[in-house]
Amino acid sequence: MKHSKPLVKVVSTGAWLPERVLTNAELERLVDTSDEWIRERTGIRERRIAEPHVTSAEMGAAAARVALERAGTDPSEIDVIVLATATPDRPLPSTACDLQALIGASNAAAFDVNAACSGFLYALTVAEGYLAAGRGDTALVVCTEKMSAITDWSDRTTCVLFGDGAGAAVVRRSEGDAGIVSSYMRSDGTLAELLWRPAGGVRMPLTHELLESNAHMVKMAGREVFKAAVRSMADAADQALASAGLTGADIDLLIPHQANYRIIESTARYAGIPMEKVFINVDRYGNMSSATLPVALDEAVEAGRLKPGDWVLLVAFGAGFTWASMVMRW
Ligand code: ACO
Repeated sequence: MKHSKPLVKVVSTGAWLPERVLTNAELERLVDTSDEWIRERTGIRERRIAEPHVTSAEMGAAAARVALERAGTDPSEIDVIVLATATPDRPLPSTACDLQALIGASNAAAFDVNAACSGFLYALTVAEGYLAAGRGDTALVVCTEKMSAITDWSDRTTCVLFGDGAGAAVVRRSEGDAGIVSSYMRSDGTLAELLWRPAGGVRMPLTHELLESNAHMVKMAGREVFKAAVRSMADAADQALASAGLTGADIDLLIPHQANYRIIESTARYAGIPMEKVFINVDRYGNMSSATLPVALDEAVEAGRLKPGDWVLLVAFGAGFTWASMVMRW
């Protein structure tokens, strides 16, 4: 195993989920779909939806406070906040700065990362590099997604898939052998238009017509994205395992991005990891984009599914396209 740099580890996690549960039965009343179709094609039974007035920064701050409390860390100790989101509260300034103000992290640099569903692994890898380089001692990684705000509720091909939520992790250099052992990130911008929000930026500024046609909401070519997700998550699993010097047989828990149960099964099968070693919550939350992985990690920790020394493999795929993976020793 390669250990050429100081190990950096997740010290604590936190999550925040809205109370409001949106069931498949309710979606049946909104668009031409069925509970059976959604469960069979995606594995999703229900998802959480935040109240209209709740912001992405507030959701992230709630998750961050839990993680900070569990780490016994005062917000003033945070050196850097890396916040991943595909649903920023506004184009400028960053949601990370809003969150910095909300939690009172008076000594922190703060910036956003947009890698869609791969956001947690991108943000955690950036934080890892920052701490490994000795630029600070404590990083806060936050993923917060109000997907309900960018969902076209008249489009059955997307509105059944997403949910709202936030997850956070306090990250520090490790003194033992626990920590991030390998990580891998890739992108392919030539495929951007298969999963995107076309309007609302510099390239296609909003007009009344674009707003009325929902051109600022998420659009996805599901079948193509599905194939790319299966292929890329297999590649990502291979790469992180190989550079950690491990195989699927060594992994105690696989935490894959939770977009679709069939993609999760295919990733596990490819990596040679039995389903009882795979963490799944897509049935309860749907796809919370970048927040999916830290919420799943938090739930795995809280459920006692990770013990010191365990090998964890995380794998993600999202808009961009982006894909990423990480092996951690817990
Ligand atoms: N209810 C009923 N029927 C539907 C629904 C729905 N909600 N949505 C689509 N259909 C129909 C389609 O119109 C199509 O009908 P047709 O054959 O008459 O044209 C049929 O069901 C099959 O559609 P497909 O898109 O081929 O269905 P598929 O089995 O591929 O499942 C899904 C669709 C669930 C979207 C799947 O493709 C998927 O999970 N894709 C990947 C999503 C993903 O991984 N995203 C990750 C990144 S997300 C991010 O970064 C923000």
